[in-house]
Amino acid sequence: MNDSAHDDARAGEPFSARLRAATWSDHGDNESSAYMSALVEGRLGRDEYALLVAQLHPVYELLERAADRMASDPAAAPFDLPGLRRLEALEADLAFFYGPRWRDRIEPGEAAARYCERLREVCFAWPGGFVAHHYTRYMGDLSGGQYIGLQVRKMLGLSAGDDGVRFYRFAGKPKAYKDRYRVLLDAAPWDAAEQDRVIGEVKAAYRLNAALTRELGEGLRHTAA
Ligand code: HEM
Repeated sequence: MNDSAHDDARAGEPFSARLRAATWSDHGDNESSAYMSALVEGRLGRDEYALLVAQLHPVYELLERAADRMASDPAAAPFDLPGLRRLEALEADLAFFYGPRWRDRIEPGEAAARYCERLREVCFAWPGGFVAHHYTRYMGDLSGGQYIGLQVRKMLGLSAGDDGVRFYRFAGKPKAYKDRYRVLLDAAPWDAAEQDRVIGEVKAAYRLNAALTRELGEGLRHTAA
């Protein structure tokens, strides 16, 4: 890394703000997809919602395997904050929706397979790539995800407990995680060029997520037809 480029990047806007601003329009494509709209408007049935949980399982399995791989990387490891991992909660939700033999009953679609392919390509050897994908999912879960979790519970008429919505429940306060996450982004040892590469990968991650819910939305139309 070139020290002066590093200093330039650090002297300007904090990276967390730059990243958010540079990718917010890509976020919008996720929010407005037919499936996500149906989800936040409470128009999905239990099986339709469970499909999303099933698609996310291989994604988090890989992300958290990559987190293990990155455990000794000084730039990437701090992002794997205690209590942030979601795989165990996802698996509890899958058991709730599909029963104890959920593993035999879920199948990743093409979009999830493409997402996983990209995760394998960039998250295991490139710390910035890992953080890009990690940020896109976990900061999302801590943000809009919190609202979505409430809607899911209402939509599916779930009891007041956590069954079926463990994925959205964090041990600590979401705001505290997000504040900490942004401090970590701002402290990441990346020069402007590396920051740009990370931003590019976050955009790619948003596209992969949008494709995933687009595919689920197509399934809805087929069901309705
Ligand atoms: C209907 C669906 C969604 C809604 C309503 C929604 C809503 C929001 C809102 C309101 C925020 C801002 C929270 C804040 O400033 O504290 C946010 C942040 C975020 N969302 Fe979403 N979101 C949705 C879907 C998604 C998806 C599918 C992803 C990616 C997988 C995602 C990733 C993010 C990320 C990474 C942030 C944090 C941005 C930052 O502050 O750096 N969101 N979302």
